[in-house]
Amino acid sequence: MLIRILIAALVLALGAFGGLYCLSEAKLRDVQADPPFVYPVTINDTSIERGRYLARTRGCFGCHGQQLEGKNFADQWDWPVRAIAPNLAEYARDHDDATLEAAIRQGIAASGRALVSMPSYNFSRLSDANTAALIAFLRSAPIVANELPTPRLGWRARWEVAFGGYRHMEDWADAVPQLRIDPHAEPDRARGEYLGMTLCNECHGLDLRGANLFGEPTPDLAIVSTISREQFQNIIRTGTGRGDRQLGLMTLVASNRYPFLTATDIDDLYPHLTTLAGEPVPEDVFWRP
Ligand code: HEC
Ligand code: HEC
Repeated sequence: MLIRILIAALVLALGAFGGLYCLSEAKLRDVQADPPFVYPVTINDTSIERGRYLARTRGCFGCHGQQLEGKNFADQWDWPVRAIAPNLAEYARDHDDATLEAAIRQGIAASGRALVSMPSYNFSRLSDANTAALIAFLRSAPIVANELPTPRLGWRARWEVAFGGYRHMEDWADAVPQLRIDPHAEPDRARGEYLGMTLCNECHGLDLRGANLFGEPTPDLAIVSTISREQFQNIIRTGTGRGDRQLGLMTLVASNRYPFLTATDIDDLYPHLTTLAGEPVPEDVFWRP
């Protein structure tokens, strides 16, 4: 009798885990891929330099290692995923352009499943030319060997994906608003919008109007209209806010990434962000619940 109860319990448990596994897999595979990336990737000094600048300012080194050798986030992130940022120099040799583009801009892994930890939504508005330059740089970077464990999605993460309303990266990347300023009519403003939407929307909301989804809430970047050009430059260059305030994650990324922004980048970014104050803040967006 006892044996039968034990067997029944075991079968039930296996069924539950199996169901959870299948449901979370189905959600991760529920992605809408764009047509394959066909923009030509040319490897020359100019594209490699451009790609290096993009990788530096967009934080690829911070997460994938200073030599792109990959990084194990298992002990660092409070998220039940054994997140392993792969060795990008190696990955770029092993995968074609379309696969790289799908991971970078669309949040879709080579396996066809959605990514869960990589912030592709911050890169989804990168231009085709810049995406190609980034790929050219990664593919020409020297490969530094690095042993990395196999990534694994824990059961709690699977639960979050299946039932907890956790949005995967393809959903996030899809939700980033389109760029609105016409680069032919207003080239400087368009450059400012482009920089904001590929640098700052990782934390300040997909539309730059603030986020309070997790971690510290971040301000609506319309706040820049109350900050002088000089103060703004100081915040970006040092990651220290007004009144010498430390800004958490922003302090961290500013010191790693923003020293590589050019003076022209800051000149373009500042005036665009000040114009946000004159625009309505979109409501009903998931990053401002
Ligand atoms: C906040 C950390 C972070 C940043 C910034 C980041 N990545 Fe990642 N990346 C990851 C993690 C973690 C993974 C592993 C997949 C996952 O868990 O989502 C990953 C996976 C990838 C993959 C492999 C996708 C696959 O097929 O599994 C590529 C390609 C990639 N990243 C490229 C880049 C590039 C290029 C940049 C810079 C533009 C970048 N990443 C910036 C954390 C990051
Ligand atoms: C990795 C996350 C992250 C990124 C990327 C990021 N920020 Fe921030 N930012 C923050 C956080 C966190 C705060 C502080 C929130 C608080 O404590 O009020 C902040 C605060 C600010 C402030 C207010 C400073 C003050 O004195 O009150 C400005 C301005 C700002 N960010 C501009 C930017 C701009 C422009 C970019 C893109 C170039 C950017 N941030 C990118 C996380 C980020």
